[in-house]
Amino acid sequence: MQVILRQLGDCNIRRAEPSDLISVMEINLKTLPEHYSDYFYESLLAELPEAFIVAEIGGKHVGYIMCKTEYGFSNFKKLGFVKKGHVVSIAVLDEYRRKGIGQALVEESVNGVKLRKCDEFYLEVRCSNNEAVRLYEKLGFVIRQQLNAYYRDGEDAYLMAIEL
Ligand code: ACO
Ligand code: ZN
Repeated sequence: MQVILRQLGDCNIRRAEPSDLISVMEINLKTLPEHYSDYFYESLLAELPEAFIVAEIGGKHVGYIMCKTEYGFSNFKKLGFVKKGHVVSIAVLDEYRRKGIGQALVEESVNGVKLRKCDEFYLEVRCSNNEAVRLYEKLGFVIRQQLNAYYRDGEDAYLMAIEL
């Protein structure tokens, strides 16, 4: 059964299902240089369906976010060991940007990782990716670290995080 989380005009924001994964991979291929194996998408959906979310307009997939959970050192508390949600990837097709879809995907994934009792939520983003950095800042994420040559092409990442 489809779990619709929110409607933004004609756009449904809902939990992903296995039959959505091919479309999610297609959006990823069109929008980002970081790609993953089929198995990786399947395993993220199996492990954290609460925070694997798609945006769909009239049956067409236009965006997704997918996440995982981890235990590790806090991005905020000195020597704290916490449960963290981690945004693995988010994208919205070019033609559908700047309509609030990316924000809705992040907000719903925050709700999803809260259901799993995560203490913090974090992600890495290219330092040059202003759109994404602004989106995360708007939602309360702050830059906690700069990761040197994090990407394969040598670009640095910002590690951005939020306490839940
Ligand atoms: N310029 C300035 N600010 C922007 C821009 C932009 N072009 N786009 C988004 N923002 C900021 C604004 O603060 C905006 O709020 P506002 O419209 O009230 O000013 C806020 O983000 C929310 O914007 P949305 O419309 O909800 O975001 P959108 O649906 O356009 O999606 C996204 C943003 C996902 C970053 C999109 O640009 C995208 O898919 N980019 C390509 C893929 C990508 O870079 N993904 C992130 C990689 S990092 C990672 O995956 C962990
Ligand atoms: Zn990451």
